[in-house]
Amino acid sequence: MRKGLLAGNWKMHKSKKETKEFFSSFINKLDQFKKDRPLDIEIALFVPYTLLEAALNQNAGNFIKIGSQNIHAESKGAYTGEISANMLKDIGITAALIGHSERRQYNNENNQDISKKIETCLRENITPILCVGETLEQRDRNQTEEVLKTQLQEGLNSISDIKDLVVAYEPVWAIGTGKTATPDMAESAHLYIRNTLMELYRSDVSEKTRILYGGSMKPSNIKELTQNKNIDGGLVGGASLDPDDFYSMYERFHR
Ligand code: PGA
Repeated sequence: MRKGLLAGNWKMHKSKKETKEFFSSFINKLDQFKKDRPLDIEIALFVPYTLLEAALNQNAGNFIKIGSQNIHAESKGAYTGEISANMLKDIGITAALIGHSERRQYNNENNQDISKKIETCLRENITPILCVGETLEQRDRNQTEEVLKTQLQEGLNSISDIKDLVVAYEPVWAIGTGKTATPDMAESAHLYIRNTLMELYRSDVSEKTRILYGGSMKPSNIKELTQNKNIDGGLVGGASLDPDDFYSMYERFHR
């Protein structure tokens, strides 16, 4: 049985003060929740580099996994402005988003760059969340499956062991637009991703890999999305910035 995962992507938002406020409110709500029920859904927050330490400090009980939104593939060197996986590991980071569509779009990241980063994460024991998804134009041309297959094949190129990999299906047209894939559309893409992982790896690997949905996920749609067999959780942008919304998503996550 795959454990549910609710992940937040703060993108380029929040100050240190706002981070402290978020955590104190969110953790307070989780403490109430845990009086009646076990915390059986994992939570992760991917925050800007400047907030990593503040987030780690706020999260003293370590229940919430704190991650970065990117890493550099090399472990050190003359790469001005970059941060390596072992630098992140050094301060206690255990997860990273890799290949988010905004990085593919604005930083020209391609599948080859992404596969190097995934390999680095796995070597450094940082859980990579590999983001894949089609644009509206590609969906309209019926190319969704082809795009997903290429992103998975090339993004996981030559990586023999994908232990701990998480995949996030994020249709680009649904990110930050208020448009959400219908549960059927999302489930069929997730099933396709799982079957592709089965072709690339073994069925037990594919069965244990968690696949998250991302793209305008919010309190009002998380339940119908997460009740599908192959949707193991969400990668939430906008709605993860507000502790009330993010907590209500945790409560409504189908289990
Ligand atoms: P959104 O972003 O929830 O604001 O659509 C999701 C993401 O980009 O990870």
